[in-house]
Amino acid sequence: MRAPQRPPAMNAPPPQPPRRPVRSFVLRAGRMGSGQERALHELGPRFVLPFSPAVLDYRATFGRQAPVVLEIGFGMGQATAAIAQQMPGTDFIGVEVHPPGVGALLRRIDELGLTNVRIVQHDAVEVLAQMIAPRSLSGIHVFFPDPWPKKRHHKRRLLQSAFVGALAQRLAPGGTLHCATDWQPYAEQMLAVLTAEPLLANTAAGYAPRPAYRPLTKFEARGVALGHGVWDLVFARRAA
Ligand SMILES: C[S@@+](CC[C@H](N)C(=O)[O-])C[C@H]1O[C@@H](n2cnc3c(N)ncnc32)[C@H](O)[C@@H]1O
Repeated sequence: MRAPQRPPAMNAPPPQPPRRPVRSFVLRAGRMGSGQERALHELGPRFVLPFSPAVLDYRATFGRQAPVVLEIGFGMGQATAAIAQQMPGTDFIGVEVHPPGVGALLRRIDELGLTNVRIVQHDAVEVLAQMIAPRSLSGIHVFFPDPWPKKRHHKRRLLQSAFVGALAQRLAPGGTLHCATDWQPYAEQMLAVLTAEPLLANTAAGYAPRPAYRPLTKFEARGVALGHGVWDLVFARRAA
């Protein structure tokens, strides 16, 4: 005699809790300085765009039609503000999850009287997927992304093939993806991943010279003085 079959429900695997995505950041409980907090309160409504699962209308956001550059992980925003000041004809969207960094960039926007910067305080992976239209950006900046040096953390690195593919799709033809790092193994990974992306073409033979618009950060200048390297990579979206 055959053994009675178990009802299907008993064979089904137990329900699993939803898997947390692997993120490229860990939110630190950093303290906001009082100036940063005031900047967030007073300037946030004008310059911080809420995360929303709807594609951004750049013309409505900036009140004009201009090339748009997305910066991912702007930290304290020194490079963002300096570049936006140098390029008043271009609009910049900076994405950062670290609240003190958002406050610091707002202060800089105010000090320099910048009108061409907006901030989204949210995970850039979701911002890119939900808010940025395909073929809409003239540039993407990813400066010194967290290197996640330990092998077990490599999965947290931002610049991996799926995300680079998504970045490339958001560039307009001819638009450039500019990455920089001071961590050589990550530089090598970036070079391999960007070279393998069919939508992108390297603008240099390997690593690129630092484009003049990217300011040398204090931290970087110190590293260079100690003989540490910095690697820039500038890839352009192919026309097709
Ligand atoms: C090592 S810091 C570099 C900051 C800055 N670009 C610089 O050059 O000084 C990397 C920054 O990326 C931010 N970050 C990492 N992953 C992110 C993500 N998925 N979305 C938004 N910001 C992210 C971190 O909060 C951190 O401030």
